[in-house]
Amino acid sequence: MSTQKISLTRYLVEQQRNDGSIPSQLRLLLEVVARACKGISQSVNKGALGGVLGSAESENVQGEVQKKLDIIANEVLIEANEWGGHLAAMASEEMDSIHLVPNRYPQGEYLLLFDPLDGSSNIDVNVSIGTIFSVLRKPEDNGQGVQESDFLQAGSQQVAAGYCIYGPQTTLVLTVGNGVAMFTLDREQGSFVLTQERIQIPADTKEFAINMSNQRHWAEPVQRYIGECLAGKEGPRGKDFNMRWIASMVADVHRILMRGGVFMYPWDKREPEKAGKLRLMYEANPMSWIVEQAGGAATNGHQRILDLKPAKLHERVAVFLGSKNEVERVTSYHDAA
Ligand code: AHG
Ligand code: MN
Ligand code: MN
Repeated sequence: MSTQKISLTRYLVEQQRNDGSIPSQLRLLLEVVARACKGISQSVNKGALGGVLGSAESENVQGEVQKKLDIIANEVLIEANEWGGHLAAMASEEMDSIHLVPNRYPQGEYLLLFDPLDGSSNIDVNVSIGTIFSVLRKPEDNGQGVQESDFLQAGSQQVAAGYCIYGPQTTLVLTVGNGVAMFTLDREQGSFVLTQERIQIPADTKEFAINMSNQRHWAEPVQRYIGECLAGKEGPRGKDFNMRWIASMVADVHRILMRGGVFMYPWDKREPEKAGKLRLMYEANPMSWIVEQAGGAATNGHQRILDLKPAKLHERVAVFLGSKNEVERVTSYHDAA
C-alpha cells in the first residue's frame, strides 16, 4: 500500500478524472471553502489570545445574539469566495438576505450556503464547533439576476455538501454524491489530507443525541421513542442506550458518522409556530445528504429532509438523522400518531 499522502487537491483532481463528478469550477469552489475553513480554524485556535471570544452584541435575522466568531467566520467565507469566478451568490445564517458576487468580479454557476460557525454556545467554553456548507447550481438566468428564489431548491438538488469541525483535530468532511470522504488538516503542510473514504454509518445503534432538558415540551412520538430508549434492557427495546449531546450539530453529526447514533432536534411546544430549531438550507440539508451518502437516513419525522421544498431562506425544520433503523423507527412513531 502506498504511504503517500493524498491532499484534498489531489483527491478532487482524481475524482474529476475518474468519473467527472467534480467540474473544475466546483473543484475551485471546494478548495476555496477549504481554505476559508483553514483560516477560521486559525482564529478558533487563537481563542482569547486573538481576541475572538465573546459576544459581538448584535443580532442576526433569527433573533440570536451573534458571537464575534460568528461574524469573523462569515466574513472569511465571503471574502474567500467573492472573487474566484466560481459563484453567483451566497447565503448565510448570519446574513438576512443573499449576498451577490459584486459586479467587478466574474460570475460563476454555483450558489453557496453556509452556517459559518455552528455551535456558537460552545465557542467561549473551548468545545468543538464547526462550519457547514451546501452547494447548489444556479438556475437558468431569467434576465433579473440572482434572486433569493433561486436558492429555494430541495436538498436533493445539492451538488456538494460538507462541514469542517474545529475540535481536537480540524477535519473536513465532504460529499459530491459519491460517498463521504474525510480530510484532516496537516498544520505543518497547511493542507487537508485524506484520512478516511467511503464512511459508513452502522444501521443500528445504542446511542442517541437530544437536548433532554426540553423533554416536557416534546410531542408524543418523541416522548415514546426516547422513553423506550431510557427504559433500557428491561424496556421494549431490550437494550441499554447511551446519550451524548454536545450542542454543536457538527460535533454530534461527526460522532454519528464515526460510530453511529441518532441525532434529534424535534419540533416542541416552546415555540409551536416554528417547525424546529435547526435551519433547513444550511444545516439540515447538507448534514442530511452527508448522512444519506454514508448509508444513514434523515427525516423531519414525516418526510425525507432532502425532498422538502424550501419556502424561505432561513426556514427551520425538525431533524431526525443518523443510523438508518433508528431514524426509520422514530419516523414510524410519527406516522402512527
Ligand atoms: P448555531 O450555533 O449555528 O446557531 O447552531 C446551534 C444549533 C446546533 O448546532 C445544535 O445542535 C443546537 O443548536 C443546540 O441547541 P440547544 O442549545 O437548544 O441544545
Ligand atoms: Mn448551526
Ligand atoms: Mn451558526
